[in-house]
Amino acid sequence: MYKLQNPQPTSHNYSQLTNHLSIMSPATNQVVCVTGAAGFIASWIVKLLLEKGYVVRGTVRNPDDSKNNHLRELEGAKERLTLYKADLLDLESLCEAINGCEGVFHTASPVTDDPEQMMEPAVMGTRNVMVAAAEAKVRRVVFTSSVGAVYMDPNRSPDVVVDESCWSDLQFCKNTKNWYCYGKVVAEQAAWDEAKARGVDLVVVNPGLVIGPLLQPTVNASIIHILKYLTGSAKTYANAVQAYVDVRDVALTHIILFETPSTFGRYLCAESMLHRGEVVEILAKYFPEYPIPTKCKDETKPRARPYKYSIQKLKDLGVKFIPIKESLYDTVKNLQENGHLPMQPTQTGD
Ligand SMILES: NC(=O)c1ccc[n+]([C@@H]2O[C@H](COP(=O)([O-])OP(=O)(O)OC[C@H]3O[C@@H](n4cnc5c(N)ncnc54)[C@H](OP(=O)(O)O)[C@@H]3O)[C@@H](O)[C@H]2O)c1
Repeated sequence: MYKLQNPQPTSHNYSQLTNHLSIMSPATNQVVCVTGAAGFIASWIVKLLLEKGYVVRGTVRNPDDSKNNHLRELEGAKERLTLYKADLLDLESLCEAINGCEGVFHTASPVTDDPEQMMEPAVMGTRNVMVAAAEAKVRRVVFTSSVGAVYMDPNRSPDVVVDESCWSDLQFCKNTKNWYCYGKVVAEQAAWDEAKARGVDLVVVNPGLVIGPLLQPTVNASIIHILKYLTGSAKTYANAVQAYVDVRDVALTHIILFETPSTFGRYLCAESMLHRGEVVEILAKYFPEYPIPTKCKDETKPRARPYKYSIQKLKDLGVKFIPIKESLYDTVKNLQENGHLPMQPTQTGD
């Protein structure tokens, strides 16, 4: 059973972040590019980069869209953030944004299980970013892959510890119509192929499902995963396990990997592995006022078991993770504060 007290997220997390930031070397007006800058993870990367003194070029599809306003309001944005109009399928637009940069954080990707929408921007887009990075002779590219490119393998024995050497099985992703994971595998492989062919220094982050406070005005897919348990739209929870991590840790990991010359290869990035039943249990203890599901969708089958995994590579770099229960608490508080979730659920009358 969890023993939960309401955390004091702001002070804890802030000091944790600043601890990390203070051990990292100060940036001296280095120019870097963040693709898909207005996205959930990218917004936090941009925020931390600006706080460190970087000059940031953020690519967005439409710089005039008000959904980018939160970026312009970040500390340091007026002086050191420029938004570039770029689409992943338009190489020229990417070259324009990346030319003159020392580093690229490639986060932009569709996040969907629709293969039509997923594959081309994820894979061709990644190739294009790598080509643009090679032409610009950037020092390093940090690519946001996913744990979905790592763990989806039905033939793995339960004794195997999932680490950076593991790859999801493409045929299995296809058979189970998990086109997001399929797309992330192919996109990550494309990134490694291009890096090798073009001599680009590439480091990859493989985050679990990312939660935590949103900077952007719209609710992204991984936050909907939590929101649906609070609004009453999910009546049950799935019999499934998932690796979770806080967005602030994911953003910081990207920057640490960029700044630490000795880092290499892939980095699994997850704080804990939870069954959906544990997620709803934590939510219900913090926020009992919401209609959080109490029943598993699939009670007849044995409860899905967590797989073993290792984040030793990140631990060796001194990365400390925000406990996921705090992250869940901060997620809900942020959703309330930004009007995505009413403070008190509406009564159904039954
Ligand atoms: N959130 C998670 O749980 C999680 C976990 C593991 C890995 N990741 C990876 O992390 C990255 C960011 O995810 P996120 O959760 O921050 O998602 P997000 O908030 O949906 O952000 C995705 C960004 O990609 C941009 N994008 C999509 N298609 C594009 C295209 N064709 N051209 C240019 N930009 C395009 C979007 O721009 P628009 O605003 O214009 O649509 C958006 O800014 C993705 O690569 C995702 O696969 C996410």
